[in-house]
Amino acid sequence: MSINIKKIGVLTSGGDSPGMNAAIRAVVRASAYYNIECAGIYRGYQGMIEGDFKEMNPRSVNNIINKGGTILKSARSKDFMTKEGREQAHKNLVDNNIDALVVIGGNGSFTGGLVFNEEYGFPVIGIPGTIDNDIFGTSFTLGYDTALNTVVEVIDKIRDTASSHNRLFFVEVMGRDAGHIALNAGIGAGAEEILIPEEDMGLDRLLESLRKSKASGKLSSLVVVAEGDKIGKNVFELKDYVEENMPEYDVRVSILGHMQRGGSPTCFDRVLASRLGVKAVETLLEGKSNYMVGLLKDEIVLTPLEQAVKGKSQIEKELIKVSDIVSI
Ligand code: F6P
Repeated sequence: MSINIKKIGVLTSGGDSPGMNAAIRAVVRASAYYNIECAGIYRGYQGMIEGDFKEMNPRSVNNIINKGGTILKSARSKDFMTKEGREQAHKNLVDNNIDALVVIGGNGSFTGGLVFNEEYGFPVIGIPGTIDNDIFGTSFTLGYDTALNTVVEVIDKIRDTASSHNRLFFVEVMGRDAGHIALNAGIGAGAEEILIPEEDMGLDRLLESLRKSKASGKLSSLVVVAEGDKIGKNVFELKDYVEENMPEYDVRVSILGHMQRGGSPTCFDRVLASRLGVKAVETLLEGKSNYMVGLLKDEIVLTPLEQAVKGKSQIEKELIKVSDIVSI
């Protein structure tokens, strides 16, 4: 164990996701377990610049394992992108005797951590927290499993209306650059078609598929569209296009939005958060820095933060085929 680290700062940054609280809890309690101090840094890097710190002990994180959002609050800090902002943040860390950071967030948050490490040699470990599951080096990010379950539950309800009124629903789910939520929740909710940014299916194929569904006797249909899908300008354009070409269909759009980011984390996300939080602290105490902790093949593994930021998480192509088969 390295003797250098006496106090860890933990922060959440970027979009909140269910499981972040469970990860904060794990970092705080692992720090106490290994007899080092821990400070919570509020509002991500912005709070670091403003010196918004609070000493945390195992009792500071009681009753949060089941809570969505993040008790430390989150922010996307523009000031941290400036040299002056980072200089102030570093001064505050030194003044508060914090000698290492655990950053819970996505790619943008990790990039901030890397730049900070480059400039000040400050030890940083990342924990992947985003519902999008778009981070290289882990099969699951914190919050993704919860978001999938939320989406499936809501689409099940939409299905009731779709089938009662013989309607076609376009359901837009989150995923700016990644189709993980759309693909998995789409299969789980029994969607006819799933549109994702990674695969440009084209409007013609969409129509052809919907026509086939209708011809096969389906009276209602669900199409799950990832926010970042590019075949139409947006989900309303898809609706207009289908209505123009298939006037027999009564089409509706449902945009699920931020409800996907909230709610109590699933057991999977809580366990993952606990494992990643403990590993983050242990990794720092081993004297390592600039790694992301992640889950691959049910093992907690380290990926260099730079690779995590630069690499692209891939969708499972097999799922596209499975969806095509089970939706006929
Ligand atoms: O990165 C997570 C995410 O939920 C994306 O899926 C979505 O595009 C984005 O955040 C929305 O961000 P904001 O809450 O800042 O509008």
